[in-house]
Amino acid sequence: MAVKVTLIPGDGIGPEVSAVTKDVISASGADIEWELVEAGEKCIEEYGTPLPDHVLETVRRNKVALKGPITTPIGKGFRSVNVALRQSLQLYANVRPLRNLANVPSRYSGVNMVVVRENTEDLYAGVEHRVGRDAAESIKIITREASERIGRYAFELARREGRKKVTIVHKANIMKLSDGLFLDSVRQVARDYPEIECDDRIIDALCMNLVQQPEQFDVLVLPNLYGDIVSDLGAGLIGGLGVAPGANIGEDGAVFEAVHGSAPQIAGKNLANPLAMLLSGVQMLKYLGFSAEALRVEQAVDAVLAHKENLTPDLGGSAGTQEMGEAMIRIL
Ligand code: NAI
Repeated sequence: MAVKVTLIPGDGIGPEVSAVTKDVISASGADIEWELVEAGEKCIEEYGTPLPDHVLETVRRNKVALKGPITTPIGKGFRSVNVALRQSLQLYANVRPLRNLANVPSRYSGVNMVVVRENTEDLYAGVEHRVGRDAAESIKIITREASERIGRYAFELARREGRKKVTIVHKANIMKLSDGLFLDSVRQVARDYPEIECDDRIIDALCMNLVQQPEQFDVLVLPNLYGDIVSDLGAGLIGGLGVAPGANIGEDGAVFEAVHGSAPQIAGKNLANPLAMLLSGVQMLKYLGFSAEALRVEQAVDAVLAHKENLTPDLGGSAGTQEMGEAMIRIL
């Protein structure tokens, strides 16, 4: 029986990269029935909100969504659809696989790691207030429950993917209570996974190590703020936004989406690189248990990257979004 997945194409370059992703995934043989829904600014006139209830309902029902980027207008009162989705579905793990791809320009080679970021608390809990006129306070919240949950997610991922090491990232030498609790909680979890090496790194040292020798890392697990920064640093290690996939995973559902935004400057011009969205789709296939199909798409991506004439301009080629997709479909 086909697996039902909610597809939110998004806006800007979203519809173009979503169409390629959907067609390539279909060509891989994965039996998926797409339920297409819209979110973002275009929904406001009709529904009064960028994230109508029926969109949330389909994601809750199908438990899996693939989402294109959605523009968040600056200075207008509409809350980011991405943040609203994460909060209302309790998507507690942000997962970003980072792998160097052949022929994608990067200063590095041999990067193959996964950044696992806690997605619900830390300084992003939004608990802040003014103290008088000229001071403000933001509260960093770390709980054992959320730290253990993200730690277990990281170790389970390492076990599932045959990875060897999990590195806990923190600043517990200074924030002894909050980051100390994160470190201690994840270390406790590590005891249940004796076959996986566990070490830890202070966030500033990690940043230096990442730009010097990124290939030494396997799985990183981090609280929200450090995770946010390190996952973008990681996208830079593998060649930037056009190739960085991502996922937000919860206990009862998951939303897969590229790291990049809606790139309005190149929208509608058949110029967008579809790989980040497609590789998010590969993560989704693995999550759904379509391992053979995921591997097939990864192989098609590698094969298409070997020929510059099939690539979009950001990868040094002259092909369009659609032509790059068609090349992958031919290979599949
Ligand atoms: P952006 O990621 O859209 O663009 C940054 C730069 O990267 C631009 O030069 C763009 O042309 C290029 N780029 C991005 N994706 C590309 C692709 N697939 N192929 C080729 N080039 C690509 O970031 P920006 O400009 O800061 O944000 C634009 C809008 O997107 C904003 O409204 C922002 O709020 C929204 N956004 C949405 C996200 C989401 O829905 N998950 C994530 C990030 C931003």
